[in-house]
Amino acid sequence: MTNDDHGDGTGTGLDWDAAAATFDDEPDHGLRDPEARRAWADRLRGWLPERPSDVLDLGCGTGSLSLLAAGQGHRVTGVDSSPPMVDLARAKLVGRDAAFLVGDAAAPPVGEERFDVVLVRHVLWALPEPGRVLRHWRELLRPGGRLVLVEGVWGTVTPVGIPADRLAALLAPLTGPVRVERLSGDARLWGKDVDDERYAVVAAVP
Ligand SMILES: C[S@@+](CC[C@H](N)C(=O)[O-])C[C@H]1O[C@@H](n2cnc3c(N)ncnc32)[C@H](O)[C@@H]1O
Repeated sequence: MTNDDHGDGTGTGLDWDAAAATFDDEPDHGLRDPEARRAWADRLRGWLPERPSDVLDLGCGTGSLSLLAAGQGHRVTGVDSSPPMVDLARAKLVGRDAAFLVGDAAAPPVGEERFDVVLVRHVLWALPEPGRVLRHWRELLRPGGRLVLVEGVWGTVTPVGIPADRLAALLAPLTGPVRVERLSGDARLWGKDVDDERYAVVAAVP
């Protein structure tokens, strides 16, 4: 991402269908570079349970994190509102223990199914009413499950996103202890040095 892209690689923050074809060109999106892929895989291993688990990847995009999670032995359900993104995710995970649905991340079409992990990277910032959305995501977890949220504040001229302090405050009444892991200092994740706020939050529920 450039300094004033908005987390989607397009700079618009809006047209995900149009962004799909070139979405993976960004180092942190496509994870094509082995060093970037390894850096994200290592982080993800630390955020996900050790045992094989059911992971719900909301706003999964082209499925890059879904693929890493599946490669670590987890069963993945991905949801994205953009059909071209879902097509790319399905192609990327063909033959894996994974299913992809077109739907709203704020109200995923998963019926009564419950998950060990709700994984969301770079999506919550774009959803209206994040507090209400987090309450719903919490309800999608099994007892002992966890939210893994990778977010940030992008850009310097017109910054957008969710600061870690605000997200932690939204989570505090919903979950157990909230762990914030800072990601800005690890250039391998982004394919370059970054100086804006990037982080992951891991929050388990009782
Ligand atoms: C910045 S991309 C992140 C994709 C993926 N999570 C990743 O980290 O590579 C944001 C994704 O969220 C999706 N998205 C945006 N709003 C959504 C919504 N309300 N419901 C489901 N998906 C949404 C977009 O289509 C896009 O694929």
